[in-house]
Amino acid sequence: MGNRLKGKVAIVTGSGRGIGRAEAMALAAEGAKVVVNDLGAASDGSGASATPADEVCQEIKKLGGEAVPNFDSVATWAGGENIVKTAIDKFGRIDILVNNAGILRDKMVFNMTEEEWDIIIKIHLYGHFYCTRAAAPYMRQQRWGRIINTSSIAGLGNMGQANYSAAKEGIVGFTRTVAKDMGKYGVTCNAIRPNAATRMTVTDELMAAWKKQFVDAGGTDEKVFKEMIDKMVLSSKPENIAPVVVWLATEEAANVNGATFFISGNDIGIYAEPAVTQKITKAEGFWTVDELVTVTPKELTNNWVNPMPAKPAK
Ligand code: NAI
Repeated sequence: MGNRLKGKVAIVTGSGRGIGRAEAMALAAEGAKVVVNDLGAASDGSGASATPADEVCQEIKKLGGEAVPNFDSVATWAGGENIVKTAIDKFGRIDILVNNAGILRDKMVFNMTEEEWDIIIKIHLYGHFYCTRAAAPYMRQQRWGRIINTSSIAGLGNMGQANYSAAKEGIVGFTRTVAKDMGKYGVTCNAIRPNAATRMTVTDELMAAWKKQFVDAGGTDEKVFKEMIDKMVLSSKPENIAPVVVWLATEEAANVNGATFFISGNDIGIYAEPAVTQKITKAEGFWTVDELVTVTPKELTNNWVNPMPAKPAK
């Protein structure tokens, strides 16, 4: 056990499994007392179970750490309040909040239902707000805190994930503003875009699709295919994500605020903030459509790379 976070109290939402579990274990291993929150839902958000949060608490305690389970959903105001209340009631304070809980409901935008949209926005985006809203007054009062949010590279655009992309990119904007609101009180807020083999990413459907592609159609040997999958899983373990989160929670990261990190295998990066790269300025008055039609190809979009070229209309 280390002691970098000795005396600190952490909450990790959705830490009964996957990335959150690894984060809770790693924070506890550095001496933090941890609230292991998990609704125990299926990957699509259905159902509930106390088992995942209970089991992670037992694992932490077995290793000499301190942990308490909480089974509230992050997707309600009351849930967020109760998760933070668990930390206050059990450990007397809240220092570190890792917003991690999440689910998927993938669908192409032209087929997506209102329910599929709502549940993703509710759990990811509102979930981040509810827990942060409940923890922020304590952190502001004590002039110390760490909030680590979970975005995704899907926020940069991923087919079939309009709901998830919107929520995850919303989380990046939320992170920037919370960093501004809270920075002056000694509280940092950063986001990660992780990549890890969990039940969310290594799904039965994906495995079946890859098997079809590599083994059935591609002629890859079953044994070679299995080795390929094992290697992929091994190189993207959730445990690879946790050290960055622990580091962001330490005193040493006090000057890292409002950033978004890429974490995959042994790669860690910081995302550039969006910036205007091409610009046209009219000397007087505003641009007209007629002018834009002629000027943009020559002066605005000429050196710009279209990230998502659409098929030309028939
Ligand atoms: P996971 O499915 O293994 O774990 C998510 C946990 O969140 C589950 O234990 C689930 O019960 C819990 N949960 C779901 N809804 C909840 C709610 N309303 N309240 C409390 N707990 C709830 O998934 P994984 O992969 O560990 O994902 C963790 C986070 O990382 C998610 O926010 C996900 O979107 C994000 N992420 C994961 C990536 C990956 O490569 N695995 C990539 C990018 C982002």
